[in-house]
Amino acid sequence: MENQIRITVCCGTTCHLMGSSEILIYKKEIEERYNHQVVIYGSPCLGNCKEYAALNAPYVMIGEELICQANVSKVITYLNKVFDIKE
Ligand code: FES
Repeated sequence: MENQIRITVCCGTTCHLMGSSEILIYKKEIEERYNHQVVIYGSPCLGNCKEYAALNAPYVMIGEELICQANVSKVITYLNKVFDIKE
């Protein structure tokens, strides 16, 4: 689908250990929530976890925006702003 927002979830070791897989578990629900205007992919290490930056894992890219300490709630909050959804 054109104009979909790509969400890239880091599945590297550090991000996986810090919980990135939770976002992938809810992939289908998140994509449906936004009428498939978003698409979620898993990715090898995004390269943000080096040295102390590991403390900010897991990392997720939403379009060009880097989300640190990402979780489902942060992704939903960000997407609600993008789509101007108030809850
Ligand atoms: S493991 Fe996620 S940025 Fe490296």
